[in-house]
Amino acid sequence: MPKLTVEPTGIEVPAAEDDTIMAALNKSGYTYLFGCKRGGCGICKIEIVEGEIEHNRPVAETALSTEERERGICLGCRAVPKTDIVARLTESSIRVTSPLLHPQNLPKKTKKSSQAKVA
Ligand code: FES
Repeated sequence: MPKLTVEPTGIEVPAAEDDTIMAALNKSGYTYLFGCKRGGCGICKIEIVEGEIEHNRPVAETALSTEERERGICLGCRAVPKTDIVARLTESSIRVTSPLLHPQNLPKKTKKSSQAKVA
């Protein structure tokens, strides 16, 4: 199962087979700016810094140009990680949509004292 690391936050999530970058993030309780989720608007562009992806579903040329592909830009709603990847958000920031999927995002509970106080 490929691992997806999102910069600049360093958030790491697993990507199941055939999960797009967007789907992998959503399943782990994260999201970032998106629009059509169908490869048509280009709002979800993300830069691949390391690793390999493939667009296994149609992508509109108006949403992602050949020049952008050559620079390592892909569409998060269509790009499927084929290896561990490091991706960088350029136009938006990642947001938590489901804190329950990430205990580290919940407020820290204070540890109860093991010594009872008797008045
Ligand atoms: S959300 Fe529209 S192309 Fe990805």
